[in-house]
Amino acid sequence: MAVSRLVVLVSGSGTNLQALLDAIAAHPGGPEGFGAEVVAVGADREDIAGLERAEKAGIPTFVCPVKGYATREEWDAALTAATAAHEPDLVVSAGFMKIVGKAFIDRFGGRFINTHPALLPAFPGAHGVRDALAYGAKVTGCTVHFVDGGVDTGPIIAQGVVEIRDGEDEAALHERIKEVERTLLVDVVGRLARHGYRIEGRKVTIQ
Ligand code: GAR
Repeated sequence: MAVSRLVVLVSGSGTNLQALLDAIAAHPGGPEGFGAEVVAVGADREDIAGLERAEKAGIPTFVCPVKGYATREEWDAALTAATAAHEPDLVVSAGFMKIVGKAFIDRFGGRFINTHPALLPAFPGAHGVRDALAYGAKVTGCTVHFVDGGVDTGPIIAQGVVEIRDGEDEAALHERIKEVERTLLVDVVGRLARHGYRIEGRKVTIQ
C-alpha cells in the first residue's frame, strides 16, 4: 500500500502535529503501517513551537507570512506553491489560523482537512471555544472536516464531544478539547490514508 504524503499547516503550539508524528513513529508498522507520513510542515509565522517540533523530527518546513506579500492572492499563490512542492496526498490544517484562498482550494480541495475546536456547524471561526462558552452551551467538542471555500463549512468527517464544566475558563476547556481532538485527528488521518474515502455532497464515507 502506498504511504500517503501529508503536509501539515500550523500557526502555534503544534500539539496536533506532534500527535500525528508520535502516532506514526509509534505504529508497529511505521509509516507503512499507519498509512501516512508527514513530508513537510508549513506555517504562516516564524518562531512557533509547531515549527520547532517539525525541525526536531527532521521534517522540512516552510513559512509564508501574509505580511510578506503585497496582496492576499499573492500570499495564497505562494502558500499553494510551497505546499504543492512537497506533492501531498493530504493537507492537514492543524491549528493553522489563516483562511486560505481560491488557488489553494482549487489545488487541494477534496484532500485538505481541518480540525476545529467546536461541534460544527456551531461556533465556526477563530474563537470556537470562547464562543461556545459565551453562548452557554453545555456540550462542545471538535470537528475534523474537509475544507471548502467557506469558513469551517466543509463536509464533516468526524466529531468528538466534550461536556462543558460549570465555571470553566476558555484555556481549561480548550485543553480538554485538544485531548479529544488529537486522538480524533490521528484516527481520521490514518483511516483516510489506509482506506480511502468518498465525498458525496456533504457526506463523507471512509471506505
Ligand atoms: C486546535 O484546538 C485547533 O482546533 C485550533 O487551534 C488549536 C491548535 O492546537 N484551530 C482553530 O481554532 C482553527 N479555527 P495545536 O497548535 O496545539 O495543535
